[in-house]
Amino acid sequence: MLKIAPSLLAADFSRLAEEVKSVENGGADWLHFDVMDGHFVPNLTMGAQVVQSLRKESQLFFDVHLMIEQPERYLEQFARAGADLLTVSVEACTHLHRILQMIHNLGMKAGVALNPATPLSLLEYVLDDVDLVLIMSVNPGFGGQSFIPAVLPKIRQLQKMRGQRKFEIQVDGGINATTAPLVQAAGATVLVAGTAVFATDNVAHAIKMLHTEKKLV
Ligand code: DX5
Ligand code: ZN
Repeated sequence: MLKIAPSLLAADFSRLAEEVKSVENGGADWLHFDVMDGHFVPNLTMGAQVVQSLRKESQLFFDVHLMIEQPERYLEQFARAGADLLTVSVEACTHLHRILQMIHNLGMKAGVALNPATPLSLLEYVLDDVDLVLIMSVNPGFGGQSFIPAVLPKIRQLQKMRGQRKFEIQVDGGINATTAPLVQAAGATVLVAGTAVFATDNVAHAIKMLHTEKKLV
């Protein structure tokens, strides 16, 4: 069943708890946190404190997307803050396998993200160790960018590589009512959407539009 993960990056930061409630009541499956360090990506956003503060406000599955260098320095902080899943960027991890083990040992699910230009082959030896693969469909760093169509064959390829494994295929960046059916048809199982959910008058309607199930082609 397709999951929708609204990205808080596009929410009104002056009233985060209310924004979380609105997507939770509006049918969101997960809540996506975009953590940026000003090094791996050119932008600065939020840290574990925001995750911790919102944990007591929501029952949603907390999906934390780390766009930071040397993420191993912060895994424990995010575990204590109440993250359910940590996704690290493959380009930021020298010892990827060890980092995935560390995340699991801290009791969380582990994901790996790939930038648009990064080949799937980098994942070959960790496919049995991940709960999620995140295919970035924009260059990470900012919300509101346009979807890069070249990732569609990459999603299809990943879906084939997955075989009998159970990991989720998440797509993040430029997801809206037009691109959601395309990525879902290619094999995506979790869609992240910031602008398409929060920059609308009706959050529940926006989530419903993204949620429409499509058959694999
Ligand atoms: C980009 C982030 C995304 C972003 C998505 O670096 O990882 O989660 O917030 O925003 P939209 O849906 O506006 O493209
Ligand atoms: Zn993200």
